[in-house]
Amino acid sequence: MPGGSEQRAVPLLTRFKADDLEDLAELLNDPSISEFTTVPHPYTRGNAREWLRFVNQTTRRHGETRQFAIRHNNLLAGGFDFRRLQKEHKGEIGYWLGSSFRGLGIMTEVVGAACQYARKRWKLERIEAFVYPHNQASIRVLERCGFSREGLLRKYYRRDDELVDALLFARTF
Ligand SMILES: CC(C)(COP(=O)(O)OP(=O)(O)OC[C@H]1O[C@@H](n2cnc3c(N)ncnc32)[C@H](O)[C@@H]1OP(=O)(O)O)[C@@H](O)C(=O)NCCC(=O)NCCS
Repeated sequence: MPGGSEQRAVPLLTRFKADDLEDLAELLNDPSISEFTTVPHPYTRGNAREWLRFVNQTTRRHGETRQFAIRHNNLLAGGFDFRRLQKEHKGEIGYWLGSSFRGLGIMTEVVGAACQYARKRWKLERIEAFVYPHNQASIRVLERCGFSREGLLRKYYRRDDELVDALLFARTF
């Protein structure tokens, strides 16, 4: 992956570019994303700049891209990343899509393709995803991509002053 700025790792997944900043700030400044993720609200251009810096740092450190921009018709549509990667064992995925790009099957295609990519590149045996129990759209995506619900993690995340539950989903190979 390191090299050209628009190389595709899998269909729809590309590298972030410096000029994604405006679109990133606009798409992520959305309470329907912060409700289900750790993305803050409001989300500013400063937050977007920090994210792009973080992506560059981790890409340099690992010598490969692990955070991808999802593009639809050449427009930035969302983000997808691999976290806590342990090669030949397991990793975790996270993702979001701008509100106008939802309901088109994009994330189902992205998660399916990304799992194949991770399996091939890092020889993963297990991929995990953590989801809030009321995030029906995300749960649907995971189920359609072969993930199974493994359990309810009680009081797993701190959100503001509250401890909230999460569901653990995983796919094994
Ligand atoms: C979760 C998210 C990525 C889904 O992306 P998407 O491209 O719209 O997903 P898809 O179109 O591939 O599939 C969505 C599925 O969920 C279903 N769905 C959508 N909203 C739903 C709801 N409120 N209740 C039940 N099902 C719902 C859709 O009908 C579809 O299933 P179907 O094709 O079997 O009908 C997107 O909604 C999003 O970015 N949400 C905010 C951020 C987020 O939740 N990130 C994930 C954190 S774990």
